[in-house]
Formats: sequence, C-alpha cells, structure tokens
Amino acid sequence: MDTNILVETAKKMMEKPKGILAMDESSPTIAKRLASINVDNNETNRRRYRELIVTAPNLSNFISGAILFEETFDQKMEDGTLFRDYLDTIGILPGIKVDKGAKDFSCHPDEKITEGLDGLRDRLATYYQKGAKFCKWRAVITIGNDIPSDACIESNMNALARYASLCQENNLVPIVEPEVLINGSHSIDRCDEVTRKSLHSLFNQLKMINVFLPGTILKPSMVISGQENDSRADQEEVATKTIACLKDCVPTDTAGIAFLSGGQTDAEAESHLNIMNQKNDLPWRVTFSYARAIQAAALAAWQGKDDNLVTSQSILIDRAQRCSNSSIGKL
Ligand code: G3H
Repeated sequence: MDTNILVETAKKMMEKPKGILAMDESSPTIAKRLASINVDNNETNRRRYRELIVTAPNLSNFISGAILFEETFDQKMEDGTLFRDYLDTIGILPGIKVDKGAKDFSCHPDEKITEGLDGLRDRLATYYQKGAKFCKWRAVITIGNDIPSDACIESNMNALARYASLCQENNLVPIVEPEVLINGSHSIDRCDEVTRKSLHSLFNQLKMINVFLPGTILKPSMVISGQENDSRADQEEVATKTIACLKDCVPTDTAGIAFLSGGQTDAEAESHLNIMNQKNDLPWRVTFSYARAIQAAALAAWQGKDDNLVTSQSILIDRAQRCSNSSIGKL
C-alpha cells in the first residue's frame, strides 16, 4: 500500500466543484432502466447509452470520477476506444464497482448481505493494472418492523471493511457505501438511528482492520423520512440531521463524503446537498456520487434514438452542473 497514491487519488476525486458519477448499474438494474424507455437490454444498447453519458460535452467540468460496471470497464466504445481509457483522456478518473450484489441474508428474512469477497484480491490487482483508480462496494440496510438486525449491520460493515483493506493493498481508493434504504414509511428519526448505528459499526470495523481513512471515501445515504411516510421531514431538517449524524459518526480524517441519491427526486437530491454545503463548518468535502439524480432525465429524453442524443446529453450536463453547484452551496 502506497499511502501517497491513495491520498492523491482521493484528493482528485474530492476536487471542488466536482462530484462522482455513478454509472455502474448492475445487470438487473440497467435492465430496468432500459425497460423504462422500451429499449432492448443488450450489450450494444448498454454501450450506446453509456457512450452517450461519457461523451456529453464538458462532463469533466463537473465530474471527477466515474464508477463503471465490470462490463463497461472492459468495453469498447463505437470507435474502439476502451471506456476506461476514454475517461482517462478527458480527465475523469475511472473506477469500478467490485461487489457482486446484495443477496438474501441467510436466516434473516427481508435483509441483504453483499457478496464478492472471494477472489477479490486478484480481481483488484487486475483492475489496478488496467487503470482503475478507485472502487465501490455497496451494502444495503433495510428499515422495517424488526429490522435491521445487529447481525445484518455487523456482517455488512465487516465485509465493507475487508473490501476497503484489499483495495488499499492494491493502491485503489475504496468508496464504502452503506445505503440505508429510503423504502418504507419510517420517520426521519428512525432513519437517523439506523444510519448512526450503521456508521458507528462501519468506522469501528474500518479501524479494527486498519483501513487508512485519508484514502477512503464514504458514500452514505442521507438522513431522510421513508418514501411512504405521510409527513416527510422538510429539506432543512434533512440537511441538518444528516450533517449532525455525519459529524457524530465520521472521523474528520476521512478523505471525503459523496452521497448517493437513493430514490430522491432530482430537486431533493440537489437541494439537500446545497443546503448542507451552505453550512460552512464541514470538516470534510461533502459532494455527490449520484446515479439516478444525474441520469434519469437524460435517459427519459434519449428513448434509445440517435436523434435524441444531443438533447439527452444537454439534459445530463444540466443535471451534472446543478449537482456541481450544490456541492459548493451555490445552486
Ligand atoms: O449504488 C448506488 C449508486 O451508486 C447510486 O445510485 O444515486 O441512484 O442512488 P443512486
């Protein structure tokens, strides 16, 4: 592990006024996204869609790094250039999602455990050698009547820490993503409680395994009411409670924080981030690592048609620019 490389990469990822573009939808998720615009889910269409994203003019003004799915990481664009090489030439760091997905957690109904540690060390060495600079691993925590269980939280956070350690051994910056799902009718305070418990567990595990925090980026969900809650907390409360939670749980030497959008509307995702960044006493850089909140409108405009490419790209850039502005509190 070379801590200089890790710190250097993490600094570039957290450079103002940029954020990280998540375009690493797994096979089932990209299938859903393409189905939503009635486009066949085949390799060519996945390539066309992702090529639309990375070739959007001036994307690198707003995006420091892009998280790719394994297929895209090894895929060529129409002119034969590898996606990962193209990103590098336009000044966007290529990263890769390395987990193998959230699977049913044995003997724990309605809970998930993320798999992918077996063989990870060798995969990481290959990704680094091919040019990856950072990785992502997503753990999923569901709020329900009697869940999350301690077993689910501890097992997922331990896996995140083991993944992070393996990344750093290979000079790859780990993005650790403990997502507390927005699904459900829970209150913001219940989300706060579960998020705190998850983050405490995560940072305990990271510490125990000696993960180097200045070379680690946290990708959390916000502290927010469940999507089906009848009296959802307003934007100010979301921003205030999220920052309070992070300040209590995230060590100040962590390299930075980049939120997921997690099913928030575009307006919510940008506004929450903007309000947080208007508070001027944040100990770390706080930015975005959105997928849906950057891509959704562009996907809908594209409809799989080349004629819509320019319009779709300009919508994508508008979304990226607004998120970028939010990341410095200037929306
Ligand atoms: O793992 C989830 C993605 O990287 C972020 O996606 O912004 O749509 O929640 P999202």
